[in-house]
Amino acid sequence: MSEALALADPAATEALGRALAATAPASAVVYLQGDLGAGKSFLARAMLRALGVAGTVKSPTYTLVERYALDRGEAAHLDLYRIADGAELEFLGLDELAGIRLCLVEWPERGGSSLPPPDLRIALAVSGSGRMARLEQASPAGADWLDAVASYRRLRPTSDEVPRKIS
Ligand SMILES: Nc1ncnc2c1ncn2[C@@H]1O[C@H](COP(=O)(O)OP(=O)(O)OP(=O)(O)O)[C@@H](O)[C@H]1O
Ligand SMILES: [Mg+2]
Repeated sequence: MSEALALADPAATEALGRALAATAPASAVVYLQGDLGAGKSFLARAMLRALGVAGTVKSPTYTLVERYALDRGEAAHLDLYRIADGAELEFLGLDELAGIRLCLVEWPERGGSSLPPPDLRIALAVSGSGRMARLEQASPAGADWLDAVASYRRLRPTSDEVPRKIS
């Protein structure tokens, strides 16, 4: 199952981040895909803030990985844009990330086989002045998560903040 959501403005992307955070399973890996500027970091930041990360959420473009302590558990935000070869990731200690509460990966296609497998893939694309997000399950936990996001949206049908489903 996958679904597409219209995100008319940045507030809609933030609302999607909150919906994903509110419904996330105990441990999840999310691959964030899409071109430069599609909104991957913006969505990652929205999820991290909704999970209680207070200070600045730095872009991991140069550090490759930023880690955050959450009230419960830990989150990691990776940006692999600068990785040329998946073997470079051996030095990052990615095995430590297995089982943490939330692992968000931008440019996962550059990570090769050392990355933990995804529960959810989110592909973002520019659409007019807004964005489009396609959410695709990649594990049984990811399937449950998508169901939970859909219910979350059904519970709030009148809030125009909540992203509109287009397919
Ligand atoms: N729904 C939306 N409509 C319009 N603009 C949006 C929307 N969601 C996010 N943006 C904007 O998209 C811009 C690009 O964001 P971002 O840095 O997250 O891109 P990115 O996909 O992480 O790119 P990169 O691959 O370079 O890291 C941000 O300035 C943000 O305000
Ligand atoms: Mg980014």
